[in-house]
Amino acid sequence: MAAGLGLDATGVDLAANALRTAGDKAHARGRAVRFLRHDARRLGELGEVFDTVLDCGLFHIFDGENRAAYVAALRAAVPAGGRYFMLGFSDRQQGEWGRVHKLTRVEIEAAFADGLRVDSIEPSTIEIATDSDGIQAWLVERNANRRSPCRDRAAQPVPRPALQALLQQGPPPRPAPPWSFGEW
Ligand SMILES: C[S@@+](CC[C@H](N)C(=O)[O-])C[C@H]1O[C@@H](n2cnc3c(N)ncnc32)[C@H](O)[C@@H]1O
Repeated sequence: MAAGLGLDATGVDLAANALRTAGDKAHARGRAVRFLRHDARRLGELGEVFDTVLDCGLFHIFDGENRAAYVAALRAAVPAGGRYFMLGFSDRQQGEWGRVHKLTRVEIEAAFADGLRVDSIEPSTIEIATDSDGIQAWLVERNANRRSPCRDRAAQPVPRPALQALLQQGPPPRPAPPWSFGEW
């Protein structure tokens, strides 16, 4: 997505097969993307910072200590002025979805109640191949400004409407519902 907007992009996943699929897709689209096999709960160990982090379908996998570790990793990897966008399963979605934790607005706010700002939590959908209604989701925007907005450093701006349009596209069609969680 970010590469499609002309930005330097890094894709992180723990599963080699997920990275292969993403790599094939980037190649087919002629996008230059760096892919890393890495645990998102340990993003800080990369020793890098990211102006924008896009999370489609990861946050809702974690709860308890894993969620806290992921949020701490985001805090380390997204500097003041950076942004975090998350698209995750909502508690509005009916039925069971394996390892996914359906998120309430309250628990999203609680997870990020660390002095950093949650700018918006909006009802949204994740498109999937097996159901034209898609999955009921939350689209969350978090701004890592710790002081006044947009002062600390020149983060590469991502045009918000374009980003939202890309997020709404959801994952590419896959044969089995809802996803394969890979070989990790
Ligand atoms: C629901 S899929 C979403 C994949 C992709 N973002 C998409 O929208 O198609 C969740 C992905 O999170 C990856 N994952 C799970 N735990 C992870 C972790 N600790 N660190 C990095 N990736 C992880 C899984 O391997 C899987 O590819």
